[in-house]
Amino acid sequence: MRIPLDRSGVVPLWRQIERFIRAEIESGALPAGTRIPSSRALATALRVSRITVDNAYLSLATDGLVVASPGRGTFVASIGPPRPLAEPAHWPVWQQAMTAGAASTDAADVEPPPDVISFTGVGDPRLFPTREIALTIGDVIRADGADAFTYGDGANGHRPLRQTVTHLLASQGVHTTPDRVVITSGSQQALFLACSALLQPGDTVVAEQPTYDHALALFDALGVGVVGVDVDTDGMDVDGLEATVIEHGPKLIYTIPTFQNPTGASLSTARRQRLVDLARAHDIPIVEDDFVGDLRYEGRAQAPLKALDERGDVLYIGSFSKMLMPGIRVGYLVGDGPIVDRVSALKRATDLSTSNLMQRVLDRYLTVGRYQTHLRRSIRSYRQRRDAMVAALGRHTPDIALTAPAGGLFLWATLPDGVGATALRAAAMRRGVDVTPGTRFYADPSLGERNVRLNFAARDEQQIDTGVARLARAIADLR
Ligand SMILES: Cc1ncc(COP(=O)(O)O)c(C=O)c1O
Repeated sequence: MRIPLDRSGVVPLWRQIERFIRAEIESGALPAGTRIPSSRALATALRVSRITVDNAYLSLATDGLVVASPGRGTFVASIGPPRPLAEPAHWPVWQQAMTAGAASTDAADVEPPPDVISFTGVGDPRLFPTREIALTIGDVIRADGADAFTYGDGANGHRPLRQTVTHLLASQGVHTTPDRVVITSGSQQALFLACSALLQPGDTVVAEQPTYDHALALFDALGVGVVGVDVDTDGMDVDGLEATVIEHGPKLIYTIPTFQNPTGASLSTARRQRLVDLARAHDIPIVEDDFVGDLRYEGRAQAPLKALDERGDVLYIGSFSKMLMPGIRVGYLVGDGPIVDRVSALKRATDLSTSNLMQRVLDRYLTVGRYQTHLRRSIRSYRQRRDAMVAALGRHTPDIALTAPAGGLFLWATLPDGVGATALRAAAMRRGVDVTPGTRFYADPSLGERNVRLNFAARDEQQIDTGVARLARAIADLR
């Protein structure tokens, strides 16, 4: 056993030996049952007196870490049976208090049966460019070495990636510079940072109604109230918005203008301009969540709100989760003015940086042109799947009403009279298909009982047809 000893230091030699062996035992490097050297052998090896080693072993034995077996030697003691896990009845008061506000188990959290066809979730993992990303990880490590494993360029993110993001955005009419881009761990973090920078508990946010469920959860976690503005086939009802703004004095407008989650609706061009004008007139920041803007299956691309923003009223949030894959956890926020530094300071305070390795991998992947090829392939598949689902719903469930979205991942279906979303989800699970009940997307869940959200992107055409047929049987079960 090699034990480094500081012979001129203030810590006695026996204590240094005892600490070293203790650390080895606690880290598992010396497992239970290991025979440790005899005190005579160790004393000779370390060139210390035998009493010094005996003192160290005595201290370890007193703490139950080693046991001496006469005639056999000294062994690392077994740690004993694991302590039982803390049970609710023994939790401290502060833990017990937390259960009071804990959310009850939502139907959507129920574990689905193994052969269920799920129309929940986001993109199709079978289409992820897993092999190409694996190769790119190797390329980055070969090219950048240990630099890829440092924190990287600070809180705003890897500069070349920020530069690449500005190029992607320029092709959509958003002109910005790398120092106005903050790379985040997914767009969810961008949303969190923007809201944390702009809101105080008790403030009000305006959002589409229905809206993205994890945005609602975030507003709730921040102690912020939400006022909903209805959505039609042209997106948020911007006429209704003005009255809402005057009545509630919101501190932020949260919107998903393109292929909205959950409705799939896109804000018309005229409404986009009106929304930006309205925010400017009332001096309210807009957080624009463009989570699937590139997944367009038909029609002309629409400029993001950020492209219409002349003053810095719009904070634009983007992500590679849906266009590429969510597990890389890279998103970004684009702003103008002091808000960028504020977001960047909050980013640093919360997680220091987004994975430097993944930022470099993503940047390399984006710049060699593979991304555009992947995007085209995904668009082709998802378009076919959307069409397959619309056709299957028409065949199997003609009494469900829907508008086919021009892009994105979701179909928002209005259920026949007398069929509620919560009951339908349970019935659908029994029939072997999973859907997301509309209740998830409203601050007042009861408003979502008439709808379900169906993800058409994650299943192939055969699964879509079988799943929709099962859904039709579940609807029939409830009648
Ligand atoms: C509308 C919307 N915004 C943001 C996100 C967050 O995604 P990510 O953090 O993976 O970028 C999601 C995820 O589903 C979403 O649907």
